[in-house]
Amino acid sequence: MKFSQAVKLAVLVGASLPTQAAAVPTPAASSALPTGTSVVSGLNVLAKAAGKLYFGSATDNPELTDTTYTSYLDSSAHFGQITPGNSLKWDATEPEPNTFTFTEGDQVTDLVKSNGQILRAHNLVWHEQLPDWVTANNYNATGLTAVIQNHIANVAGHYKGQPCMYAWDVVNEPLNDGDGSFRSDVFYDTLGSSYISIALTAAREADPNAKLYINDYNIESTGAKATAMQNLVKSLQADGVPIDGIGMESHFIVGEVPTTLVENFQAFAALGVEIAITELDIRMTLPETAALLEQQKQDFYTVVDACLQVSACKGITVWDWTDKYSWVPSTFSGQGAATPFDDNFVEKPAFDGIVEALKGQSFS
Ligand code: G3I
Repeated sequence: MKFSQAVKLAVLVGASLPTQAAAVPTPAASSALPTGTSVVSGLNVLAKAAGKLYFGSATDNPELTDTTYTSYLDSSAHFGQITPGNSLKWDATEPEPNTFTFTEGDQVTDLVKSNGQILRAHNLVWHEQLPDWVTANNYNATGLTAVIQNHIANVAGHYKGQPCMYAWDVVNEPLNDGDGSFRSDVFYDTLGSSYISIALTAAREADPNAKLYINDYNIESTGAKATAMQNLVKSLQADGVPIDGIGMESHFIVGEVPTTLVENFQAFAALGVEIAITELDIRMTLPETAALLEQQKQDFYTVVDACLQVSACKGITVWDWTDKYSWVPSTFSGQGAATPFDDNFVEKPAFDGIVEALKGQSFS
């Protein structure tokens, strides 16, 4: 943690005072937002000591040119697992029919390997970041089945056998919000829900050692969508379709973290699948305040603690670890500050919340 403390000090020394400060002298420290104070050997180290497989983060290729960023990311002490945020998606890996590109995916995977981390690969079949040719070619059921199978055979096949490979998000976000019905997209509209079993079966064939996940949002708490996902799991199991895990994305809002996480995680575990918190971030309406950061600390504690309470929850992935590279501000206007480290890579109170939960401590 020496490096981050040096960064923190630099930020404090360089902090500019509000414009009123000249008229009403205010000590710099009191005008600064609170920061995290925990000094630990690493989040991943703590997660493993707590019986989890990993604490990890998403990352994306453009960020890998930022050497300060990578100096943290490279620390398998903090991040023992990596999810490529974009570079394994369909538009990145098969931009034209049967033309595969793995340059960016390999860049992240090579980093994972050299850092001794494990890989959650994301994702094989999703209605977003899908090249036009998949939707525009008006494939019939037979044609689209072949397209899915070829995509998965090549992409999952390319990464097959890598020692770092832990899991594939094979199907991403198949359910609608609200009632949890199947999302209308080219896959469902052409094949019905059978596209899910086609994809899972193809993934098992392509990489027999990878855990096969379905990943979605708003299934973290009890409700119609979570129930629909559980029903999907039961139906796949009844049909003998391989399904190993369910990813709980966990894109939350400060002060609105669900209260039924543990109960819901246990309901999934009872089906015999593992679960993972795959894309955790907790956004707020800007500007940040001390009160919002304190609530965010509580919220990160709640989510991490919920994973710790359920043995089927294998690990926790933040959807990038620093506000500098979070997807949130570009998607939710006026919102952000959703991760445990700020724009300057300084730990926030949320970091302390994660640490306290991983250590099995009461929230302080
Ligand atoms: O690659 C182009 C680049 O060529 C172009 O110059 C640039 C201009 O905006 O856009 C780039 O594409 C962007 C892409 O990320 C890669 O950076 C897209 O516009 C942008 O929409 C895309 O956003 C990604 C988003 O998925 C797409 O839905 C986010 O980075 C990524 O973090 C986010 O991740 C998703 C998970 O996969 C699934 N769960 C939700 C999560 C958050 O939305």
